[in-house]
Amino acid sequence: MYRTHTCGELRIQDKGRKVTLAGWVQKSRRLGGMTFIDLRDRYGITQLVVEADAPALLVETATSLGREFVIQIEGEVVERQSKNPKMPTGDIEIKTDKINILNKSITPPFTIEDESDGGEDIRAKYRYLDLRRGPLKKALTLRHKVAHEVRNYLDAKGFLEIETPYLIKSTPEGARDFVVPSRMNPGQFYALPQSPQTFKQLLMVAGYDRYFQIVRCFRDEDLRADRQPEFTQIDCEMSFVEQEDVLNTFEGMMRTLFKNVLDVDIPNPLPRMSWYDAMDRYGSDKPDVRFGMTIHEITSAAKGKGFGVLDGAAYIGAICVPGAAEYTRKQIDELTEWVKRPQVGAKGLIYIKVNEDGTYKSSIDKFYGPEDLEKIASAAEASKGDLILIMSGDNIRKVQTMLGVLRIEMGGRLGLRDPKVFAPLWIVDFPLLEWDDETQRFYAMHHPFTAPKPEHEKWFYSNKKEDLERVCANAYDFVLNGTELGGGSIRIHNADVQKRMFEVLGIGAEEAEYKFGFIINAFKFGAPPHGGLAFGFDRVCSLFGGSDSIRDYIAFPKNNQGRDVMIDSPSQIDREQLDELRIDIRADE
Ligand code: AMO
Repeated sequence: MYRTHTCGELRIQDKGRKVTLAGWVQKSRRLGGMTFIDLRDRYGITQLVVEADAPALLVETATSLGREFVIQIEGEVVERQSKNPKMPTGDIEIKTDKINILNKSITPPFTIEDESDGGEDIRAKYRYLDLRRGPLKKALTLRHKVAHEVRNYLDAKGFLEIETPYLIKSTPEGARDFVVPSRMNPGQFYALPQSPQTFKQLLMVAGYDRYFQIVRCFRDEDLRADRQPEFTQIDCEMSFVEQEDVLNTFEGMMRTLFKNVLDVDIPNPLPRMSWYDAMDRYGSDKPDVRFGMTIHEITSAAKGKGFGVLDGAAYIGAICVPGAAEYTRKQIDELTEWVKRPQVGAKGLIYIKVNEDGTYKSSIDKFYGPEDLEKIASAAEASKGDLILIMSGDNIRKVQTMLGVLRIEMGGRLGLRDPKVFAPLWIVDFPLLEWDDETQRFYAMHHPFTAPKPEHEKWFYSNKKEDLERVCANAYDFVLNGTELGGGSIRIHNADVQKRMFEVLGIGAEEAEYKFGFIINAFKFGAPPHGGLAFGFDRVCSLFGGSDSIRDYIAFPKNNQGRDVMIDSPSQIDREQLDELRIDIRADE
């Protein structure tokens, strides 16, 4: 037997017990002839001690141990002279009388401790060493726990976990596909699924009325902290349901996860906000509602004073930053530069300080007297001490979005975005369609299988752009602390409605047949009313763990260039392999 106990479980009650442990040497040090060794495994760290008067061979072995050597030891649990209250095993140590070196290690490139001295790149290259560190072990353990709770909950509700294929045809999620060439079908390619969307709908046609899958998805899109090219969804679909049934079922799942994983109670029922409200008040379809500082429209209050920038704008909006009236000129200049960065895209920033003594100071004093500024402050619902930040433009949603980004930034700067506070909500009533000026056509806001609200069908069948823009979908997103954790919709199950949807999206009959013929055809064989959603599993885990980077919650993630630097992928392949696939690489590559 390699071990009787793990390195995380021995306590003072075990005093006197003879034990065998195995693990990695985190560090060792000599003190007055004695050798102390921190032995680590997945479960924790236990201190070993080799006494000064131990047999010479044992002392010699103990002092020869390098970092990350794998050893097995035998000894007795004794009470520590100087206890370490920070460690669960800190009351005891193992008086060691046998050390067996199971394997040596070369010196690791960084220290394997909770606070490592290694930079991100080197730790990514040696991910298997990084994974030995406490924070990553905690993250992967949390991930396991979330998956386990998801399966328990959905199983109890009668959901079946069914796998769907990875080598498929393009899916309709709107990102770029990763493609895989087929050797047996030269010149033809599989696509990796961006989600199992079409397959889960086919499972509904097949009668498996409650499906789920914890499933890998692939999207070739630009990466961010909360995006990976391969990520995992908790993907679900149900038949014979309306939006209300789906929301209740998955609100219940999230409530169970919060309770069983974090011991946090979330509101029952969860708040719901329409997409329009979210955009108007938060400038985002994934509002962070942990704090206020909402957007106020001040268009009529701010116009008509001869200031061209505002007089000519279709929309003027403002946020009030509490306590920021004290900002210096330099701080405001810095903020103005900040909003001009391409990530925000504003042309400029107008400010009004509402001083504690009731006076105003603004960047538009030339055009606006105290009464005019007061009128704006009142429209923005400002209080004394607030800094009112104003943006304007012709495209309402664009201005609101920029104000939304600024709001998040200011919330962060004021410390209002505590990761230990959870404010989940549903966003509902999304527009079905999104107009794109560049290509002069509509796109599906969610995906082309999302159903229009039945009460909006009259607009759906209209050919006027304004009418089509008004059509809402039975679509919903689960949002937590400014992150979209999940989203879904009630689907179209009627072939005529689907045909109209493709028509509105400018997808011709031929193209629809080529891309989605299999599902259109399946819908002719008695498709039940159905709907569902998918949660981003990595995002759920990272937010539960209090981080906005999903990378730490994935055992082997990709970096921002989409590379796995540990295995050095993507990489070139042999000429032979290319020949077999009938693929030529262009000379300019
Ligand atoms: P959607 O595209 O909204 O919906 O994806 C669902 C959820 O998956 C997560 N997610 C990601 N997580 C990490 N990295 C990524 N690149 C990434 N992309 C998406 C998000 C998101 O909310 N088939 C539909 C669902 C449905 O209609 O049932 C779909 O995939 O948390």
